[in-house]
Amino acid sequence: MIFLRTHEADPDEVYRFLTRLVVPRPIAWISTVSPEGIKNLAPFSFFNAVCDEPPIVIVSISRRDDGRRKDTTDNILRTGEFVINLVSEELIDKVELTSEEFPPQVDEFMVAGLTPTESFCVKAPSVKEAKAWLECKLFKHEELFSYDLIFGLVLCIRAENLDYEHLKPVGRLSGRYCRLTEINTRAYSG
Ligand SMILES: Cc1cc2nc3c(=O)[nH]c(=O)nc-3n(C[C@H](O)[C@H](O)[C@H](O)COP(=O)(O)O)c2cc1C
Repeated sequence: MIFLRTHEADPDEVYRFLTRLVVPRPIAWISTVSPEGIKNLAPFSFFNAVCDEPPIVIVSISRRDDGRRKDTTDNILRTGEFVINLVSEELIDKVELTSEEFPPQVDEFMVAGLTPTESFCVKAPSVKEAKAWLECKLFKHEELFSYDLIFGLVLCIRAENLDYEHLKPVGRLSGRYCRLTEINTRAYSG
């Protein structure tokens, strides 16, 4: 049996236990553009949809070790826009590449060999190789300890289709990724 009093435990251990048991977590692969026109792309799994009328998502982005904001946060706060690109199985390696800590002048689309394509409702680019996209406008920003909570209003939803066999979405399972291989076909409400 495992028992952990979080306030007296090592923070790394709390993170490990929390992310091992809150599973699977969806992944927001967020593309933004700076006011200077530099594109940015990075994954975030402290992410979820929190309401649907209106459609609002939340992403929690930590500060860097030196207290600086991550480029994604900076761009969202400066431009008020972002795109969440769906992560499909075949894109996992690219997602990993874009999670590296690059300086703000580096365009992660170039690093990962991905194609930026024009979005419909926002200036931030979309990842062409993804199969579904949520284009968002910053709705609210809250600081929580050393995290920036970004609430996004989803302005438009685009998807090649809604078939999981095609979309092949993946989730975050502690430090790994999981596939949706077994889907319960019984109909439930909601
Ligand atoms: C699958 C995955 C999920 C991640 N989730 C988060 C997260 O929820 N919050 C966070 O601050 N960083 C998260 N990261 C780390 C960021 O992607 C990483 O710090 C990245 O360099 C940020 O890039 P940016 O400075 O261009 O915004 C995650 C990394 C991976 C691979």
